[in-house]
Amino acid sequence: KRLVVLVSGSGTNLQALLDEIAAVGAEAYGAEIVAVGADREHIEGLARAERAGLPTFVRKVKDYDSRDEWDAALAETVSAHEPDLVVSAGFMKIVGKEFLSRFGGRFVNTHPALLPSFPGAHGVRDALAYGAKVTGCTVHFVDDGVDTGPIIAQGVVEVRDEDDESALHERIKEIERRLLVEVVGRIARSGYRIEGRKVVIQ
Ligand code: GRF
Repeated sequence: KRLVVLVSGSGTNLQALLDEIAAVGAEAYGAEIVAVGADREHIEGLARAERAGLPTFVRKVKDYDSRDEWDAALAETVSAHEPDLVVSAGFMKIVGKEFLSRFGGRFVNTHPALLPSFPGAHGVRDALAYGAKVTGCTVHFVDDGVDTGPIIAQGVVEVRDEDDESALHERIKEIERRLLVEVVGRIARSGYRIEGRKVVIQ
């Protein structure tokens, strides 16, 4: 299976996928990353892709006259790589209807909270501020909402009294990276069905 991965930041989730595929081989893993895209330049996620010798692309909202034109351009660029699965690994933009019409049902996102709790761009901070005792991460299919698509897998992380946002986020990311690697490999190797809100992996 062909993967395109979208990033906006440090790219440690991307790195976890790259490391796993390098360790076991694309054949055994069931997928290979064919390109990495971002919504901004000069991020470690792109540097990680370049170090792995992968094609990269950047599509910035401000370079387009409208959000829809950005969405269409992103969809077109991703399509050119003929992905079977698109993975948002810390991609911090909400895609639009053109992107979803092409990739809905095969676009996976990872979120650093236990959805439906704490969706959006500050899930770690919100869980901490709320006083949650456990939080975690969620791998889900992207639908037309914000972090609202069918859940594939979740991992639980305890919140510690001394946690600040970055300490808690780092601990979540340790679980999140393993969950993403496991889930992407499973759905690449064995296929899946989405029945309403339920995801069934064969
Ligand atoms: C991840 O925790 C992701 O869930 C969130 O941002 C973080 C990205 O981390 N949206 P990285 O860029 O993969 O290191």
